[in-house]
Amino acid sequence: MNKDWWKKNAEGIPSLLTEAPGPKSLEMHANTAKYMKGLSSQVKLFPVCFEEGFGITLTDVDGNRYLDFSSGIYVTSLGHCHPKISEAVSYWAKKLMNAHDFTTPIKEKLMEKMASILPGKLNAIQLYSDGTTAVEAGIRAARAISDKHEFISAYRDFHGKTMASVSCAQMYRGSTYSYGPTRSAGFYMVPRPDPYRPLWTKNDGTIDTDAYINFYENFIKEGTVGNVAAFVLEPVQGWGGSIFPPGDYFPKLKMLCDKYKILLLDDEVLAGMGRTGEWLALSHWDVIPDIVTFGKSFGNGFPVTAMIVSEENGEALEKISASSSYGGNPMACAAALASIEVIEEEDILQNVRTVGDSIMKRMKKMQDEHPIIGDVKGKGFLLGIELVKDKKTKEPFDEAGNLVYQKAFSKGLAWIPAGHILRMSPPLIMDEKYAMMGLDLIEESISEVEKEFGYY
Ligand SMILES: Cc1ncc(COP(=O)(O)O)c(C=O)c1O
Repeated sequence: MNKDWWKKNAEGIPSLLTEAPGPKSLEMHANTAKYMKGLSSQVKLFPVCFEEGFGITLTDVDGNRYLDFSSGIYVTSLGHCHPKISEAVSYWAKKLMNAHDFTTPIKEKLMEKMASILPGKLNAIQLYSDGTTAVEAGIRAARAISDKHEFISAYRDFHGKTMASVSCAQMYRGSTYSYGPTRSAGFYMVPRPDPYRPLWTKNDGTIDTDAYINFYENFIKEGTVGNVAAFVLEPVQGWGGSIFPPGDYFPKLKMLCDKYKILLLDDEVLAGMGRTGEWLALSHWDVIPDIVTFGKSFGNGFPVTAMIVSEENGEALEKISASSSYGGNPMACAAALASIEVIEEEDILQNVRTVGDSIMKRMKKMQDEHPIIGDVKGKGFLLGIELVKDKKTKEPFDEAGNLVYQKAFSKGLAWIPAGHILRMSPPLIMDEKYAMMGLDLIEESISEVEKEFGYY
């Protein structure tokens, strides 16, 4: 497959025929929203109705064409409707849609391929159809492996919206609000390092990773019943704001886990499959987890996710009867296999590293030049720009974030931030030209917002 398959279609974007969102979008959204409830804040702030997607381009029902800077929501990472992936899914859609968890030829190929890309002995696999179910299965597997039942997760991590997953997140606000008196019993949260907003620093002002690890050790001794099965963590806090931990965090955490025979459940639903330039984001720190979850980019839009444990713990998946109705259906296996093959054939990891470095350089320049850009963060194509009212006080600037989001969208940038951290997740196929085009639209919008709030 020619890796430039998407370029011809991208010519001339963004191209707007109406004010965006246009009249048809507004009408269709209003009709839909009469019935469809629980929409995200991004949709409420910009009620566009999309009709088509190809590569890095999205087209709405008014014929407006947008540059995609979100990949759905970190999902269509290899471009909308990648021909190889669409063909693979449609082949099985016509041949065999579901065969419970019996073996199929396409499943055999996917299993062998996954085992070949995963580090260490991570090769005991089960498949699901959304990220939160994979996390729940990982939690059950951790119990079965360790014969323990407590879990520790971190402030601002996100793991999904089913009950154990929300118990690993903040529960009183936003997308994991759960109307219960408490999180499920045995689930605890601890702070994790945010280099821009550190809780504990050394004398020289740099982040004090040991202070976090010491806190965890004390917490394990004092705050649990001594039955911690696993730390459940995102390698990089994606929805929390594209927050990368310091380089020594995961290596030191893994040592602590090993000391107390605690498993590391690495939730790569958002950050895995190449988004940071590695198959697993945790590989940036040479740490091999005990349990991994994959989702989002794994099927490039087809709902397929995975939970993987290391070979010696494979028996745990038998104990928890890990299979499900849709997990591993032939269309899902075809989408995942084709996605992995595309990443290899189109040298996507290298593209993410190279273009990601250029994006970071440009974002740093923007940070120097704009009074409301407090921090820029990320790696590869998992990126964030943090807006603050004042660089000294670092007070979050949510109003500016929402306005920048709307302005850039109305200029033709399809993206998904909400609040003061502008999160960006462009398709991993994107080249430097279009990456800079996206940043131009964002920078223009930031300048306009700065003017409106009286910074110039
Ligand atoms: C790290 C992480 N884990 C799990 C999930 C849940 O995935 P899903 O929405 O497919 O259930 C998400 C979704 O954003 C996520 O970012």
